[in-house]
Amino acid sequence: MNIQKNISLKPFNTFGIDAIAQQFAEVLSMDELKEVIQKTPSFFILGGGSNILFTKERVPFVIHLNLKGINILNYSDDDVFVKVSAGEEWHSFVLWCIENDFGGLENLSLIPGNVGASPIQNIGAYGVEVKDIIDEVETLEILTLQKKVFFNSECKFGYRDSIFKKDLKGKYIITAVIFKLKHKNHQLHVDYGSINEELIKNNISNPAIKDISNAVIAIRESKLPNPSAIGNGGSFFKNPIISTQHFQELQQKYPTIPHYSVSETEVKIPAGWLIEQAGFKGIKKGNAGVHSKQALVLVNYGNATGAEILSLATEIQIAIKEIFDINLEIEVNIF
Ligand code: EPU
Repeated sequence: MNIQKNISLKPFNTFGIDAIAQQFAEVLSMDELKEVIQKTPSFFILGGGSNILFTKERVPFVIHLNLKGINILNYSDDDVFVKVSAGEEWHSFVLWCIENDFGGLENLSLIPGNVGASPIQNIGAYGVEVKDIIDEVETLEILTLQKKVFFNSECKFGYRDSIFKKDLKGKYIITAVIFKLKHKNHQLHVDYGSINEELIKNNISNPAIKDISNAVIAIRESKLPNPSAIGNGGSFFKNPIISTQHFQELQQKYPTIPHYSVSETEVKIPAGWLIEQAGFKGIKKGNAGVHSKQALVLVNYGNATGAEILSLATEIQIAIKEIFDINLEIEVNIF
């Protein structure tokens, strides 16, 4: 296997941060993965690079996980089980599903990144989370180099969260994901306001999964910056969950505050709204900024360093705490 030295990571992360990998190993098979892990005591696993902010100038050892393959395992009643290797590009896989009329992931169209990262932060959009469609997650245990399969119930999925982000962080490498899709009797999720609006706009009353995918693509393109044009890592913060009491206090002061009920005692507030209210939407600080159409997305206007982006994020967190007494939790991985 070829281990390259001093490689710029700029093309490998959607934020476009120019960190340097002192050693960079491209891994194309399980054997290569095991071989490289044995060579180095510590490493950073890089997939699609869409949810990472590099804040250090140098990263000692990067393993670029590029395992490929999409295989139909079996059919049962309405379901089809598909195994997808970690290095497959997420959106290409979603399009493959749509071409095959396999339903379930259409609301998650156009999310940047690779399949292997999807269970880690339980990617979600427009009323669907990937946990709803994941059957199993295949991993390699770093310590033993043994394969370990996690059933959905073992992954402890939550809002932008899983066991791989918490208790098992750094212990397992996700090598493949097995999805349980529908090959008939599709269950469509169109409740998310703007999907319905988009379908109505296009005179579609009886949507197919492709129509949902197209609607999601149109919505995303209208408000989220395309990482190939302007560096970003999607939502930079999680939408905070606060107590109902705290929410009611805020509602007195801000009657139009958007909110989603999570439980009887908890309410989720869109962080984008809080950031916009705090006056940060569209601002530019050096090369770092807040996107003008969606305040939850921080952007790199050119040659920002990870530290510059992080410093803007900290400024936002301090302001939101001061104004609303809410702690904004960073969603993107910081390295
Ligand atoms: N809003 C504002 N100003 C803004 C942005 C949002 O006021 O600048 C308010 C509006 O009231 C809007 C509401 O926030 O109706 C929700 O906004 P949006 O539909 O854009 O969704 P979001 O809550 O900001 C979440 C996910 C996105 C996902 C969308 C759609 C998180 C952290 N983010 O954003 O995920 O695409 O919902 O389902 O949960 C990502 O994780 O990278 C990501 C893009």
